[in-house]
Amino acid sequence: MKVVYASRTGNIQTVMNKLNLANTLKIETGLEEVCEDFILFTYNDGAGVVPPTVDEFLKHNSKYLKGVVGSGNRERHPDTWNFCLDIISKEYNVPVLYKINTTGTDEDLARLKEIFK
Ligand SMILES: Cc1cc2nc3c(=O)[nH]c(=O)nc-3n(C[C@H](O)[C@H](O)[C@H](O)COP(=O)(O)O)c2cc1C
Repeated sequence: MKVVYASRTGNIQTVMNKLNLANTLKIETGLEEVCEDFILFTYNDGAGVVPPTVDEFLKHNSKYLKGVVGSGNRERHPDTWNFCLDIISKEYNVPVLYKINTTGTDEDLARLKEIFK
């Protein structure tokens, strides 16, 4: 499965580097196009909102979206931890597959590997 991801401060990039998957795309501008099914891996922006570039990307690629995983910061944002996944899930009617804290644990990485298969 293709994994489309966004990373602003490097946490998700670190996870993606460790997973070393074959079929990935990084959202840089939001104008990227896909033509196959994908899982989205996103960070959260202020108060758990969807990052603008991810929002833009989904506007024209959502028909291929199969599920969403995310990284948030539970210590700094306990009330809106990974909240943007719930927003995306509701708006596009796809499942929230997994939530990690910052760069995740070894167990999280193993779980993500399974999910992205
Ligand atoms: C301005 C700002 C707002 C954030 N708001 C939230 C939030 O509401 N909920 C949350 O879980 N994480 C929040 N975060 C934390 C990021 O989602 C988290 O650090 C994530 O791992 C960043 O991924 P990245 O380093 O790949 O960009 C926020 C981070 C920043 C910089």
